[in-house]
Amino acid sequence: MKPIERSLVLIKPDAMERGLAGTIIGRLQSQGLKLIAVKMLHMDRELAGRHYAVHKEKPFFAGLVSYITSAPIVAAVFSGDDAIARIRQIMGPTDPAKAEAGTIRGDFGIDIEHNSVHGSDAPETAAQEIRLFFGEGEIFP
Ligand code: RTP
Ligand code: MG
Repeated sequence: MKPIERSLVLIKPDAMERGLAGTIIGRLQSQGLKLIAVKMLHMDRELAGRHYAVHKEKPFFAGLVSYITSAPIVAAVFSGDDAIARIRQIMGPTDPAKAEAGTIRGDFGIDIEHNSVHGSDAPETAAQEIRLFFGEGEIFP
């Protein structure tokens, strides 16, 4: 029996601009993942810096912060058995050029910087990320 996990999912600006929020949420729901929180927000640089703190020293960090703060996004929490790994599988790898058709990034991602979606990568980071975006009263397990 796989553990029940939670994962933070972000629908990034490139997907929002093309009206793909519903499609992406629907793909995750149709795979049996349960939507337990959702909101629309415009991330500021402070929230972006905290969410992507692990990448602070990377050459792509400044571009990543500019991009993720460039337009409103949708943030959501999904739960389910093995949700973290399953969501990353449904999303496909970071670079859409390497993602298979049928994955979210394979079907909708533009390039490595504009890859449509974020999903947490481990239980500890998921818990931290969910706390950044949602209060306990905004989650409906
Ligand atoms: P995410 O955190 O957004 O779900 O993506 P990920 O785990 O698949 O990839 P990660 O290594 O955490 O990188 C975070 C985001 O930084 C951008 N990136 N750009 N230009 C580059 O070489 C590069 N590498 C990463 C991507 O937008 C990636 O989603
Ligand atoms: Mg990541």
